[in-house]
Amino acid sequence: MALPVVDTDYLKEIDKARRDLRALISSKNCAPIMLRLAWHDAGTYDKNTKTGGPNGSIRMEEEYSHGSNNGLKKAIDFCEDVKAKHPKITYADLYQLAGVVAVEVTGGPTVDFVPGRKDSKISPKEGRLPDAKQGAFHLRDIFYRMGLSDKDIVALSGGHTLGRAHPERSGFDGPWTKEPLKFDNSYFLELLQGESEGLLKLPTDVALMDDPEFHRYVELYAKDEDAFFRDYAESHKKLSELGFTPPSSASKVISKDSTVLAQSAFGVAVAAAVVILSYFYEVRKRMK
Ligand code: HEM
Repeated sequence: MALPVVDTDYLKEIDKARRDLRALISSKNCAPIMLRLAWHDAGTYDKNTKTGGPNGSIRMEEEYSHGSNNGLKKAIDFCEDVKAKHPKITYADLYQLAGVVAVEVTGGPTVDFVPGRKDSKISPKEGRLPDAKQGAFHLRDIFYRMGLSDKDIVALSGGHTLGRAHPERSGFDGPWTKEPLKFDNSYFLELLQGESEGLLKLPTDVALMDDPEFHRYVELYAKDEDAFFRDYAESHKKLSELGFTPPSSASKVISKDSTVLAQSAFGVAVAAAVVILSYFYEVRKRMK
């Protein structure tokens, strides 16, 4: 499928879709499942074969019917309403934008979003996403295949600050935190706390406690929410851009916009200097 042309019109549509997603996510309280959709579309990336990744292929029945994607059809349908209003935007961009907005509207960090992803109808084979019943070795196997690091694994696992598991979808049950619609560092605080009545810990969550390299990030993020937000925003951007090189049209439009911004900032500075200088001129004139 063709690359979208990221011109001023495309960026305007992205802006409008962002507003629509904010309203949709707030009214339906569906931030967790939208974040999970973005992650499952992107998390199939294989850096060796350059296949999978954030390309919208999760909308194909072949892929959303994978066991690991149980329940995600609901999020795909929510996005379909936004797509109908902004047909120009690719599914790949729309799903990643939904993930970024889900984090933002629940109080999480701002994740930089660069548009221009291409859609694909080719679904990877089942088995590229992590299996919650396994441990640290498996997590590394899966995330290193995407080209991500230990730090990315722990920071991104903090996405479980949102939402819950549903027995009919994954066989697991319950939220990870006491406020599953608030994006904060409580996932890590709960991990350090250990067993807590009514809260869930998957074997892969426990692995973050048991592995010394993972554990030091758990400690850091529990202690320092700013560090978590900073690293999470960085890792989320990486995840949302696996195998994606922004088209040069996108960077041109974006840099054109920043030139305009830089020019207006210069204009404001000059105006301020003129006001200050004329003030001193007046004062000196009065002193003479
Ligand atoms: C580290 C490996 C991971 C494993 C094994 C894993 C596994 C799971 C499982 C089993 C569920 C429950 C699904 C259900 O029953 O509805 C779930 C939900 C969720 N996951 Fe993960 N996940 C992982 C990483 C991530 C990442 C990287 C993110 C996002 C950055 C994420 C975001 C979510 C969210 C937001 C939900 C809640 C969905 C809802 O409430 O409907 N997960 N995950």
